[in-house]
Amino acid sequence: MKAPLWGVKKSGTRPGRCDSAALLLGRTAARVLRIQFVVYSTEHSPELKARDQDVIYLDNNSTTRTDDAVIAAMQPYWQNEYGNPSSLHLLGQSARHAVERAREQVAAFVGARPRDIVFTSGGTEADNLAILGAIDANTARRRIVTTGVEHVAVFSLCEALAKRGHPVTFVSVDSDGRLDLEKFADALTPDTSVAAVMHANNETGVLFPIEDCARIAADKGVPLHVDAVQSAGKVPVNVGSWPVTTLAISAHKFHGPKGAGALYVSPRAKLRNQLVGGHQERDLRPGTENTPAIIGMGLAAELAMQSAIEGWDSVATLRDGFEREICRRVNFARVIGGAQPRIANTTNIAFVGLEAEAILIGLSQRGVCASSGSACSSGSLEPSHVLRAMGLDPDIAKGAIRFSLSKLTTEEEIDEALEIVTQVVTRLKGMSD
Ligand SMILES: Cc1ncc(COP(=O)(O)O)c(C=O)c1O
Repeated sequence: MKAPLWGVKKSGTRPGRCDSAALLLGRTAARVLRIQFVVYSTEHSPELKARDQDVIYLDNNSTTRTDDAVIAAMQPYWQNEYGNPSSLHLLGQSARHAVERAREQVAAFVGARPRDIVFTSGGTEADNLAILGAIDANTARRRIVTTGVEHVAVFSLCEALAKRGHPVTFVSVDSDGRLDLEKFADALTPDTSVAAVMHANNETGVLFPIEDCARIAADKGVPLHVDAVQSAGKVPVNVGSWPVTTLAISAHKFHGPKGAGALYVSPRAKLRNQLVGGHQERDLRPGTENTPAIIGMGLAAELAMQSAIEGWDSVATLRDGFEREICRRVNFARVIGGAQPRIANTTNIAFVGLEAEAILIGLSQRGVCASSGSACSSGSLEPSHVLRAMGLDPDIAKGAIRFSLSKLTTEEEIDEALEIVTQVVTRLKGMSD
């Protein structure tokens, strides 16, 4: 039996106490009120639209707002241009042409040739295809090498493969989130079928030296999969100059639509398809293409490239100022991974002695959207595997909040968020002392 996709556990798939209602309202309140969140379109729910204006959205590593131009570009492919790209008639060929144009845009975005781009449903599927496809293509080698701080799309898959008997090496990082390249090189033993390393960490923003990892893996003859879901569009990603085997990206992280991603597959790669069906995407990803989402992804990639350089410097200035000011105002705040090279938009700040859940609820009530990597375990929130792998004291890690900006974040929003965060954590600290 083929492996299922591994990634984020969606609430509802496994009944538990920590669901999305619980996160927003607190577990107790959610249990008492038994609230079911049903989100209708804004047409049915005008108050949602009104609230939109008051929100300070600092959760762009979770997802970004879809660019208006992207939405406009997608629109015709649900309406007049609804052909199946595999059909030979004019509507089908029009859709095919648009998909191939998007492939060119996405290829240019990561420095690849269009024919080496495989569209998927997102980052999770691209990561799964790369890793499962590599181990299925080379059954003589069974080991997988990865790091302890990968996104669950890679981390949980590797844990599942370990349970099925694959030896898995999780290379450790230090308390700043830095990868030890010597340890990484040592882990690449002759029985390694694939190594999987992320470019930018989704929780801390810390960047791994992917060029070095790629060189080391190439020297050892080990295929390297790179999870570039958080880095693409924020720092240069160029498979043309890195000897990587596969590389995953996801459109909704750079103002494209949800449900669209891509896997770069180098001509050297040996990869087995994980789905069986039609011949789409060079047999590697059968199934009718999600044409509107692919077209949206193509334009989002092009727009991200156009605004790449100038946009992120000012985001870094906003992020650094926010971080500095929080640490000046709040004497129990600690920046996690701040000493490392990071993507410009991310800061992870631990409020020592507090629980992330309480902070997130307090912030949400005041209109600030942020997140924590904490996950529900036996009914209580545990620090994420990422912060645990960094060896952080659980008392520090438990109060860690990720703030992730975008190019749409304004100085006014950051100033307001500063006030709100300071007030919320100071009040909570007063209650906990
Ligand atoms: C580093 C990283 N990899 C993979 C994923 C999964 O991407 P998707 O949500 O498109 O499945 C994410 C999503 O947050 C991520 O941050």
